[in-house]
Amino acid sequence: MSIIDQQRLTEYQEQGFLVLPDFFTAEQCDALRVRAGQLLDDFDVASTRSIFSTHNQDRDEYFLTSGDKIRCFFEEEAFLPDGSLRQSKAESINKIGHALHDLDDTFNKFSRDAKLVTLVEDLGYRKPLLMQSMYIFKQPNIGGEVTCHQDATFLFTEPNTVLGLWIALEDATTENGCLWAIPGGHKRGLKSRYRRKAEGGGTMFDIFDSSPWPLNELVPLAVSKGTLILLDALLPHMSYANRSPRSRHAYTLHIVEADAHYPQDNWLQRDNSLPARGFNP
Ligand code: FE2
Repeated sequence: MSIIDQQRLTEYQEQGFLVLPDFFTAEQCDALRVRAGQLLDDFDVASTRSIFSTHNQDRDEYFLTSGDKIRCFFEEEAFLPDGSLRQSKAESINKIGHALHDLDDTFNKFSRDAKLVTLVEDLGYRKPLLMQSMYIFKQPNIGGEVTCHQDATFLFTEPNTVLGLWIALEDATTENGCLWAIPGGHKRGLKSRYRRKAEGGGTMFDIFDSSPWPLNELVPLAVSKGTLILLDALLPHMSYANRSPRSRHAYTLHIVEADAHYPQDNWLQRDNSLPARGFNP
């Protein structure tokens, strides 16, 4: 029993993304939201000041060692000049990442839902690995812009196999910062690769194509709660800042094929004690 038929598969291959409304129920979305709220309650704001911003891609050790952990990152506008939070703690966190799916029961159950297993099979994955999970808050008023990018820039495999699963946990609109994508833009090749430097620590970009993104070709993917959006490894996509009074929570999973080469200088690395796993519980 498949989730998507040949026509929809062709649509995905042509445009580089596919919108699947009502993939998850409202109850499933709410269970994730409740659990994320508990994780924020437990988060000690004094433990880190780590900010996630796509306007500055220098990442600190707290981020670079989070591939096999559950960690919170602040919005870039979370702090006032005096160092205090502009909004409540629960409305200051940009995202939680990056191994929620392996370390938390609620996220594990959601991420290994039977429908996801079938969907990823439909796309031809033979040995899928769940590499990365992120709970993205896109907070009211200060939800940061995510600049236009391809997921293969950050999760590079040879060949390119990274698959993005983007799930709306609330209605996503042009007001609260929905996804935007360039239909067919995945056919134009990989523009850059983000990796750890060979020496001296830190990260850098290898640039393969320095031309600007054709942002005039972006289309908004406004979707309702429970919708899943499939994103090809090379699809250019982004989201604008959220200046509205409403949040736009989303959950993302990134899958790679186990047989593809996963370089040791990708930013996201897993400790040998917690290797990336597939869909089996
Ligand atoms: Fe992305």
